[in-house]
Amino acid sequence: MRIFSGIRPTGGLHIGNYLGAMKQWIALQDTNECVFCIVDLHAITTPYDPKELQKNILETTAVYLAAGINPDKSVIFVQSTVKEHAELAWLLGTITPMGELSRMTQFKDKSKQHKDYVNAGLFTYPVLMAADILLYKSQGVPVGIDQQQHVELARTIAKKFNQKFEKIFPEPETILPKTGAKIMSLTDPKRKMSKSDDPKSCISLFDTPEQITKKIMSATTDSGKDITYNITKKPGISNLLTIYSLLTDRSVQDIQKDFEKKTYSEFKKSLAEVVINYLEPFRRKQKELQTRDVYVKDILEKGANRAKIIAETTMKEVREKMGLA
Ligand code: TYM
Repeated sequence: MRIFSGIRPTGGLHIGNYLGAMKQWIALQDTNECVFCIVDLHAITTPYDPKELQKNILETTAVYLAAGINPDKSVIFVQSTVKEHAELAWLLGTITPMGELSRMTQFKDKSKQHKDYVNAGLFTYPVLMAADILLYKSQGVPVGIDQQQHVELARTIAKKFNQKFEKIFPEPETILPKTGAKIMSLTDPKRKMSKSDDPKSCISLFDTPEQITKKIMSATTDSGKDITYNITKKPGISNLLTIYSLLTDRSVQDIQKDFEKKTYSEFKKSLAEVVINYLEPFRRKQKELQTRDVYVKDILEKGANRAKIIAETTMKEVREKMGLA
């Protein structure tokens, strides 16, 4: 299968991004043809500092590498370096109904969050995402649940193109992890963990052991004393149990048993240890990669060259089918 996914280089990637999206990427790259993008054109639809963007792109690439994406197997590149993304987005925009875009919950959320920055790019964001996916004729898109609506729109756009012009695009499927598709905030477990929220709500992949311990020990828990999984009655503990289970590859039931007679504080201490140990290679690899900008840039350049070969072929076909060539 051809797989495509991406992350916005907005800094501070967190364990939600890792457990919802990247952990799946690592598993998929062994048996599929994977294209993983750093989507800088999407990152500029919300407020950002131009001086920080290149640094964030390199940092996000370092996360991809530290998480285990292998540049010899998978294509890793920066969206804006393959200009066909923007070109296809324009063309697909001409067949995307405004009504479909108006239904997108991310647009509604983000325009509420950044009231002074509601730009047209934010509204057409899902069209660019459809272009990302369709440019590589991707069949599978591994993401967290918050991106499912966008992938479904990409499917609708693919169908529309195939009907209106000629069938050239596969209809991409969302690939969600069985658990971890929505990791919740540590401070408000009814909301999604998000990099734009309070730093205390979110464990960054590069947090120090001290920061991790502090955030987990102060994570919101629920009334009662039992460490049991119950999303409605105990959203805080359930979220922590999910993180524990995903990072140790053990079932929630097993972990519950270990902590049957233990306190919230003992459970949190143990979770902090699990998270610290799991993220240790990330911190180490990131430190190492910080001093190897040339190596990281070289990976991105080679990735862009591989991506361009596929992108140019699709665009030639699209232009012909749409009567532009
Ligand atoms: P972004 O940068 O917001 O998030 C990157 C990935 O992390 C997932 N994610 C989560 N998963 C579980 N729990 C959470 N709390 C959590 N928070 C974020 C997201 O679902 C996503 O998979 N529009 C996309 C980037 C994009 C893209 C694409 C993805 C652009 N083009 C084409 C797939 C295919 C985004 O903003 O992701």
